Amino acid sequence: MNEQAQPAGGPLFNPLSPDFIRDPYPHYDRLRTIDPIHVTPFGHFLASRHAEVSLVMRDKRFGKDYVERSKRRYGEKIMDEPVFRSMSHWMLQSDPPDHTRLRGLVVKAFTARRVEDMRPRIQEIVDQAIDAVIDRGHMDLIEDFAFRLPVTIICDMLGIPEDHRETFYNSSRDGGRLLDPVPLTPEEIAKANAGNMMAQMYFQQLFELRRRSPGDDLITQLVQAEEDGNKLTNEELTANIILLFGAGHETTVNLIGNGLLALHRNPDQLALLKARPELMVNAIEEFLRYDSSVQMTGRVTLEDIEDLGGKRIPKGETVLCLLGSANRDPAVYPDRPDRLDITRPNVRPLSFGGGIHFCLGAQLARIEAEIAIATLLRRLPDLRIDDVENPEWRSTFVLRGLKHLPASW
Ligand code: HEM
Repeated sequence: MNEQAQPAGGPLFNPLSPDFIRDPYPHYDRLRTIDPIHVTPFGHFLASRHAEVSLVMRDKRFGKDYVERSKRRYGEKIMDEPVFRSMSHWMLQSDPPDHTRLRGLVVKAFTARRVEDMRPRIQEIVDQAIDAVIDRGHMDLIEDFAFRLPVTIICDMLGIPEDHRETFYNSSRDGGRLLDPVPLTPEEIAKANAGNMMAQMYFQQLFELRRRSPGDDLITQLVQAEEDGNKLTNEELTANIILLFGAGHETTVNLIGNGLLALHRNPDQLALLKARPELMVNAIEEFLRYDSSVQMTGRVTLEDIEDLGGKRIPKGETVLCLLGSANRDPAVYPDRPDRLDITRPNVRPLSFGGGIHFCLGAQLARIEAEIAIATLLRRLPDLRIDDVENPEWRSTFVLRGLKHLPASW
């Protein structure tokens, strides 16, 4: 590690500090080396090595235990807050058997085959985004390019009518704070409640519409499952639709944004990918590994754990899994893990999680990013990012991505 990359003293884990947001990787190096199961000031156990991160996500002794975990952090009354109540129904926060039931209801919409069939539509949306700006000579790669693709695709899948979509384009980039490992302030909870209530009201109307006039879409399927009696409650239905928006939007925008930034910071890799477009599938895995758009997830110990990386962890404790750190662990990537190498063999990033919660939209996100980046390289081959050294990062830690990424051609 070079001297500049070595953070001086200070807390090992301060994830919302500007320095950490700008470049978390030297901090991860320090955690993996000095204290691979670090206890944070909030009393969480923080796993930073690949071995433990991977184990915690797959091992049944770890689960979500969302309601109890939230009460421990915020107090008994927290489940009266609409946003927390809603999140408690997310499959992402559920344990079996609820998790199995909820995931089972939507999994068919995300099979490899179904997602492959979306390629022409994804290509169309990407081409439209470029058509809209090509004569301008400049754009913001986030707002003008990456941003609309994942929302449009989710809207298509859910069957959101065209004339309702503008709200989603305008409002869906603020939820990330809910995931950060630093408790929400009362103001943030109030704001999240308001957003959640708006979404609930909107979806109730849409469910009514789909009951009256069914379509060939996921909401129609889910409304039918709800009517089927004990498969899905109305609260679960709404919550999991909101989850699909949240989980599938910002993450994919950031995969495209972080990937483009990484390529432009490494001109040799950019040139290689332009010369050999067949490397794109591996390049996407490397982008996910190199600068993951999801940096962390977590589990709760469902029983006492005698030894995790040398520490004993009692039942009921939160273990945070640093995906972005595991992805750069030299124990798994011995060949210069801090280097972007689109030809790297055996890249298996943990960016989509693991175990029963493995990302439902992984293949969709990969294909969206593949088509978006390939099309951009082909149609705007001389595109340059205006300031590759000092881009403006969003202030959230778990969801890592750029606010803006202005580029010209
Ligand atoms: C680059 C893009 C994406 C990344 C990095 C990502 C990352 C993740 C991660 C890390 C998890 C697991 C969290 C855990 O284990 O606790 C997850 C779960 C999930 N993701 Fe993604 N995601 C992406 C895109 C998408 C898309 C496009 C969708 C849907 C349209 C989606 C839907 C979901 C859902 C529903 C879950 C919960 C699955 C479950 O609990 O069983 N994600 N994602």
